[in-house]
Amino acid sequence: MISTMFLVAVLLAFGQISLAVDTEPSCPTNSPTIRSGKLPQFVVLTFDDAVNNELWEAIYTDIFDDLTDPFTRCDLKATFFISHNNTNYAKVNQLFHDGHEIALHSYSHGGDRQDSESLVRKFRMGRWALEIQQNINALIEHALLPKETYFGWRSPFLFTTGDESFTALNASNILYDSSLSFYEKSWPYPLINDKKSSSCLIKPCPSQDYLLMEAPLSVWTGIDNEVCAMMDACKYGSTREEAYEVMMANFRRFHEENVPMPISLHGGALINGNNGHFREAFIDFLRTLLGMRDVHFVTMRQLVEFSRNPKNTFQFMREARRACVTFRPKESCQPKRPACEFKNTDGENSVYLHTCAKRCPSQRLEIAFDYFGKSCCEA
Ligand SMILES: *[C@@H]1O[C@H](CO)[C@@H](O)[C@H](O)[C@H]1NC(C)=O
Ligand SMILES: *[C@@H]1O[C@H](CO)[C@@H](O)[C@H](O)[C@H]1NC(C)=O
Ligand SMILES: [Zn+2]
Repeated sequence: MISTMFLVAVLLAFGQISLAVDTEPSCPTNSPTIRSGKLPQFVVLTFDDAVNNELWEAIYTDIFDDLTDPFTRCDLKATFFISHNNTNYAKVNQLFHDGHEIALHSYSHGGDRQDSESLVRKFRMGRWALEIQQNINALIEHALLPKETYFGWRSPFLFTTGDESFTALNASNILYDSSLSFYEKSWPYPLINDKKSSSCLIKPCPSQDYLLMEAPLSVWTGIDNEVCAMMDACKYGSTREEAYEVMMANFRRFHEENVPMPISLHGGALINGNNGHFREAFIDFLRTLLGMRDVHFVTMRQLVEFSRNPKNTFQFMREARRACVTFRPKESCQPKRPACEFKNTDGENSVYLHTCAKRCPSQRLEIAFDYFGKSCCEA
């Protein structure tokens, strides 16, 4: 339910950047330079919001148990930008040990109020710093992620509030941000001497120099020619064939320029129901990409690392093959049963926390919704 809510919110959020794409010039991209050969065609699959049981059922068997890159023999890996509420941390632990990337998406996501979007727009540096820290603490405590992990980040609703969140990310040793969207296609780039970010689509954009990298969202185009940064906010027609064709048309645009393609969505979009044709088309689409020799799925972190240290397709495949064969870390979570139970504020519905921690926290941690924090930049 919560994921559907966020999906609607994202659709609303993107109403304001929609416009017919054929009016936009296509700019040259910032491809990494390699000495010889061709850059691989990367595809990055990401999911936002809670990792809940519903999401798990929607994606696990059909997508992650089933799909493999026949050329590297690596199983399909994704990046999960996780917010706290409703997240099952035992599943997060499993995702991590299966080789998926666990990344941050804020602790509260602005909370569950109707106006959570407008609240997020008011977040200042102090609030972002708290969101980042609690997001990290929860992953370490409840999913037992290693303490020294350097995380990536995506802002809730893709609202960064410009320098306010970037200053907090920079001070929290975050590895990369993946919240800025652009019409033109782009590789990850450093936020130092950066002229690109000032043209990001969701204002305000960051304007200072930061140590982290930006892994931007290049927009997709729907069947109606409207663009979207989260691909599930575009329209795909009413049949499986139509939806598949729209997805492939988007892929061809990235492939022509040989620029990484973000496939960023919410698990809610893949939960069966009246949206069944989208799910079927989506799985067909993933299978087609996996069947292409030069196309490789990587996590956002891998893409960021690759762009700092680029290789040609041949070298990449040789290393990828080796890396995915040897990656067999041990399971470490014995999920606490039953889950920790907290009475909701209405006193009626309980909220459950599925954790790998040995003990339940004594109370549910919440951030006061009207705490916005100190600003980095306002006078
Ligand atoms: C968390 O999710 C539950 C169930 O969807 C909801 O009842 C509750 O209000 C949410 N709490 C916050 C702080 O978002
Ligand atoms: C980013 O972090 C570095 C290292 O801590 C610091 O020197 C720099 O001033 C920070 N940048 C901003 C804009 O806060
Ligand atoms: Zn979200």
